[in-house]
Amino acid sequence: MSEKLFGLTDEEREQAAEILWEETRKFTLACKACPLSETRNKVVFGDGDRKSSLLFIGEGPGADEDSQGLPFVGRAGQLLTQILSAAGIERKDVFITNIVKCRPPENRVPTPEEMLCCDRHLQTQILIMKPALIVLLGNTPLRWILKTTEGITKLRGRWFEWHGAAVMPMFHPSYLLRNNTSKEGGPKHLTWLDIQEVKRQWERYKQTGRLDETIFG
Ligand code: URA
Ligand code: URA
Repeated sequence: MSEKLFGLTDEEREQAAEILWEETRKFTLACKACPLSETRNKVVFGDGDRKSSLLFIGEGPGADEDSQGLPFVGRAGQLLTQILSAAGIERKDVFITNIVKCRPPENRVPTPEEMLCCDRHLQTQILIMKPALIVLLGNTPLRWILKTTEGITKLRGRWFEWHGAAVMPMFHPSYLLRNNTSKEGGPKHLTWLDIQEVKRQWERYKQTGRLDETIFG
């Protein structure tokens, strides 16, 4: 994986990525581009390992995230942490962020204008990270990233190609909190299958440096 880009060594490229990452963090934390900036307490940039090949994208910060400045730390976030950990994925080894970086009032779904406005931050994060695998948590990131009107129930558990990355939609953990049945074929069971598939493909990518060619079915 030591391709040379513009004559930079891997180490020089890594230093440049680190500088860009910190610049985009500062830019995001200072953002006043949309009205969500007026009601937020903290901008939630994202958390974890920006060098990870695995990125999770949620919808937007809730009350706990807004007060702590960290993604997925409330009830849904704790469930996400548990799901990851049950599959052998540690939060610190992946990067977790949201479509919008500021809390929508009353936890409403962010508007298309807000998502468009915030896209500069997410796309810059993705550009610098270049994740091989991306998990979309729930309908909002699913529809925004994959530009589809289909829903999560139909598309979850499948891999989609998006700018060279393998993208899997999964149920949002807050949906699992509301639909708490452990029945086979229920949302919790399906999410368990999905996260194990994510883990499998991620391990494979880490070992071989490439995605399974049959991943997109
Ligand atoms: N729900 C989300 O979509 N993101 C968070 O960070 C927390 C809850
Ligand atoms: N609606 C969502 O936004 N996400 C889910 O996971 C289920 C329903």
